[in-house]
Amino acid sequence: MKKLLIIGRGQIGSALGNILGEQGHFASAHNGHAYEVHYWEKDMDALSTDALLSILPDAVINTAGKTDLAWCEANAREAVRCNLEAPVRLYERIRNIDHPIRYIHFSSGCIWDGPYTPDGRPFTPTMPPSPACLYSWTKAAADAMLMNIDKEHIAILRPRQVYSGALHLRNTLVKLMKYPKLVDTPNSVSSMAVIEKTVRYLLTHSEASGIWNVYDRGVITPFQIGEMLWQTGVRTQPQKISKDELDRFHTPKRVDTVLYDERFERCINPENVEAQLHRAIDELRHAIELQAASEALAA
Ligand SMILES: NC(=O)c1ccc[n+]([C@@H]2O[C@H](COP(=O)([O-])OP(=O)(O)OC[C@H]3O[C@@H](n4cnc5c(N)ncnc54)[C@H](OP(=O)(O)O)[C@@H]3O)[C@@H](O)[C@H]2O)c1
Repeated sequence: MKKLLIIGRGQIGSALGNILGEQGHFASAHNGHAYEVHYWEKDMDALSTDALLSILPDAVINTAGKTDLAWCEANAREAVRCNLEAPVRLYERIRNIDHPIRYIHFSSGCIWDGPYTPDGRPFTPTMPPSPACLYSWTKAAADAMLMNIDKEHIAILRPRQVYSGALHLRNTLVKLMKYPKLVDTPNSVSSMAVIEKTVRYLLTHSEASGIWNVYDRGVITPFQIGEMLWQTGVRTQPQKISKDELDRFHTPKRVDTVLYDERFERCINPENVEAQLHRAIDELRHAIELQAASEALAA
């Protein structure tokens, strides 16, 4: 069984560990291999060569990073260390080990301020970034440095507005349940299902390196997602807010981004966004009902 070392145990790290690890025994019958999952929850800079050698993973999946945009603005030095310097230093340690270790790094589709390019196209992996805040600058700079060091062996994933059926505070659906007003602007979104499918592909195709935009097929707006959540009974009916109005009070600026990646669509064949959203919203409704039932029991 291949060994994975997942760094960071936030929304994406814990979901991936659950899917690819123990619960992966079930998944293995349907989706592919199960993996022996190890987590690194301490600081990434403390993951020494000796620690790497003691685990000797076949792949390191770096899901760690400072992801709160306002926090990054207020703590710029630490945001740069965690999102840019530490991942680059970590890869330098990995590549000096005499054992092939796949390095999969999570970046973000938020490095572009769109929703489209000035000439109306979606953003493709090689387009220059147009970061709108420090967080996005740190992600874009890490990608550039990692690709400069070893673009033949590193795989970088750029998801956008990640969601699932889990009751997790960082789940995009959970966030969209709370805002009374939502913008009606086109965006790409990424289900945990499409992220899992992409990671599984990268783990079995060691030649598949470079930058991958990762998203559900099609385009959706936050307002449309809000309406789907309302129709499922997990939020009130959303109102619309214009992007200009949102930009007046939302700091740092929230970006709209639509992604495209010909290689990703060919190799991964992502599912349609509305089908994925319906599935995740149903799971979320179920999770909310379960939580309410267990709270009622405890009361
Ligand atoms: N979720 C999304 O919608 C989304 C979209 C696009 C890209 N991404 C990228 O995907 C990755 C994972 O996102 P996520 O949603 O799982 O984020 P998350 O829930 O915030 O988890 C990130 C984890 O990394 C930890 N961390 C921060 N700095 C670290 C360091 N120096 N060493 C070790 N751990 C550290 C954080 O711990 P603390 O909480 O203690 O800081 C947190 O537990 C990030 O790189 C993010 O930029 C996410």
